[in-house]
Formats: sequence, structure tokens, C-alpha cells
Amino acid sequence: MSAQIIMVASGKGGTGKSTVSVMLGGRLAAQGKKVLLVELDSGLRSVDIISGVYGKTVYDIEDVLSGRCEGDKAVVQSPLYPGLSVISAPYEGGEVTVAGLQRLCRALGDVFDVILLDTAAGMGAPFAAARACAHKALLVLPADPVSLRDGRIVADALYDSGLREIRLVVNRVTDRTFKNGAVRDLDECIDTVCAQLIAVIPESAMLQRAAAMGERLPVECPTYEAFDRLARRLLGQRVTLSVR
Ligand SMILES: Nc1ncnc2c1ncn2[C@@H]1O[C@H](COP(=O)(O)OP(=O)(O)OP(=O)(O)O)[C@@H](O)[C@H]1O
Ligand SMILES: [Mg+2]
Repeated sequence: MSAQIIMVASGKGGTGKSTVSVMLGGRLAAQGKKVLLVELDSGLRSVDIISGVYGKTVYDIEDVLSGRCEGDKAVVQSPLYPGLSVISAPYEGGEVTVAGLQRLCRALGDVFDVILLDTAAGMGAPFAAARACAHKALLVLPADPVSLRDGRIVADALYDSGLREIRLVVNRVTDRTFKNGAVRDLDECIDTVCAQLIAVIPESAMLQRAAAMGERLPVECPTYEAFDRLARRLLGQRVTLSVR
């Protein structure tokens, strides 16, 4: 298996995991990588809308894990981001299992260069299954004390499990983020979570709209470059963090 497997986690819900997973997947694909994004959040799916595959999905991850279809049957191409393939979560039911996800990653690990595993909030079954497969974790967190503290708990669990490659994505940063005194600066985010910072993603109404409408992220969106830098940095390119 040659694919690099990256889990996207947070602890707290609604931090931007699915949004970052899709946009990152799109920019990794733009770098020439074959990217598969697997959404593991049963019952609360959103990747299908953000990536534009809504209504095009016949099989989902539950069908694959329960053996109702082969992994490749559930793979749908994103019409918005060429080179990005998606396996959606089911609308309801079915817990992700470690063995099932490992089987899927083995089956598709030679077909794709990167497999992104978008986990659910907390550290339940999707988190455990993703951890059993992942080489690297991205923690997507806004810079607020609760999200950062929960992120630290997740980071500790990942370190305890033997995963060393944990990177922090600080999401939804605005000019005001570090002005209300709750969190001092990016250094405090890094120190709280104990993970190396790999990206700072601005707050963007344009991103929110594109994600909600299932539209392609406009190039002029301030987050576009941030996702591009994140993708390049993940691929080991020497690209600076852009902190506007
Ligand atoms: N940088 C950003 N700027 C503006 N809005 C954002 C940004 N990142 C995420 N959002 C918005 O935050 C909301 C939650 O995002 P998303 O669904 O990606 O979070 P999640 O962590 O996957 O949630 P869950 O834990 O439920 O899976 C969405 O409305 C999304 O558009
Ligand atoms: Mg999500």
C-alpha cells in the first residue's frame, strides 16, 4: 500500500473538519495527487454537499464496510475538484469498524496517493478506526479555549497510541481572534495542543457559502491560498505559513 493516510480530527464538533478535508483534498489533487476522501461521520454527512457529489452517490461507506459492495463502487468523483474522489457517509446507521476501514484502505491504498479520513466529533468508533489506519493526523481547531483544550485531549490520545505525526490547523481566524484575551496568539494554540502548526485558515463567508451551496471555492477566496499552502506543506514542499 503506497497511499499516505491522513485522519482529520478535532474533539469538539463543528470545527471545520469536513470543510478543510474537502478543500485540502481539492488542492492536493491540483498538485497532481490522486486523492480519496472518506467521510466517517454516519448520519451527519456533509462532505457530499461540500464536494458536490450530493445526489450522485449510490453506495456509501456503510455499504463498503458491511460488504454490500466493493470499495471502488462507492467512489464518486467530485465535479468541483478534479482528481478528488469521495466515499460518503451513510444517512443513518452502521458504525465504522477498525477491521472494515483497514480492509478498505488496503484495497484502495495502491490506487490513491493520499487517503483523507474525515472523522466525527469526539473519540468514538470513527476516530478509533481512522487512528488504526492513519500515518498522520490533522487537528482542525478554532482558536478558542474549549476547542484547544479538547484538541489537546485528542492529541494526547493520538500520541499515547504511538502516532507521532500530528499537525495543527487553526481554523476561522479573523483580525479579532487574538484580541478578546481568551487566547493570546498562535503560540498559545501550539502550546495548548502540543502539535506543530501546519496551517492558519482565515474565517471566510465566501468559503461558508461555497460549502453550503455545493459550489467550487472561488480562487479569489482568501482561504484558497491557505488551503493550497496546507496541501503543499503536507507534501513536504517548503512553503511558508501565510498568516494574514
Ligand atoms: N474557515 C471558515 N470560515 C467560515 N466558515 C467556516 C470555516 N470553516 C468551517 N466553516 C463553517 O463551519 C461549519 C462547520 O464546518 P464543518 O461541517 O466542516 O465542521 P465539522 O468539524 O466537520 O463538523 P462535525 O463535527 O459536525 O463533523 C460550516 O457551516 C462551515 O461552512
Ligand atoms: Mg464533519
